[in-house]
Amino acid sequence: MYNIAVFASHGGSDLQAIMDGCATGQINARVCVVISNNSGSMALERARRADIPAWHFSAKTHPEPGMLDKVVMDTLTAHQTDIIVLAGYMRKLSANVLQQYNGRIYNIHPALLPKFGGQGMYGLHVHAAVIAAGEKVTGVTIHHVNSKYDAGDIVAQTEVVVLADDTSESLAARVLKREHVFLVEVLQSICAG
Ligand code: GRF
Repeated sequence: MYNIAVFASHGGSDLQAIMDGCATGQINARVCVVISNNSGSMALERARRADIPAWHFSAKTHPEPGMLDKVVMDTLTAHQTDIIVLAGYMRKLSANVLQQYNGRIYNIHPALLPKFGGQGMYGLHVHAAVIAAGEKVTGVTIHHVNSKYDAGDIVAQTEVVVLADDTSESLAARVLKREHVFLVEVLQSICAG
């Protein structure tokens, strides 16, 4: 069974999908630890409710970057992390973490990369850009993480139709719903071998 560490900054609905997928046995893994840069995030709350170790680490808790890197690395090691999933995590990982977990770090992005990715492309900004570009189809991308935003190798993608009357909000809701299913399917296959 794999140990998945999840990093999340806000609502944690993707985290919840992973926790549920592990609980039902669909994913051969358990969420071993949740780390957030946001002390008030719903993601930390969801983890605590499920008795999963949950930590707030940020420049507020560790102003010195070297110490922040160390506490994150030590926490990942202490929980015997095999795989890292960034599920709505709004910070970059340190070079050290990227190197130690090279090839075992995944991010989920709410569009079909390489389109609509990169710095500033998060939340409703992504869906507003998709609609402004007149796209008929958008989707979800799961990709490996490197030192640049949304730029690692693509692991899997699924499409979501853009409707003529979609707003950023309605499109965001439809894409997020697909994320919850797709993330579990992709992690199922990653953790199967
Ligand atoms: C998702 O849309 C994900 O693709 C993006 O951040 C969002 C996280 O949503 N990276 P939630 O916090 O899991 O609800």
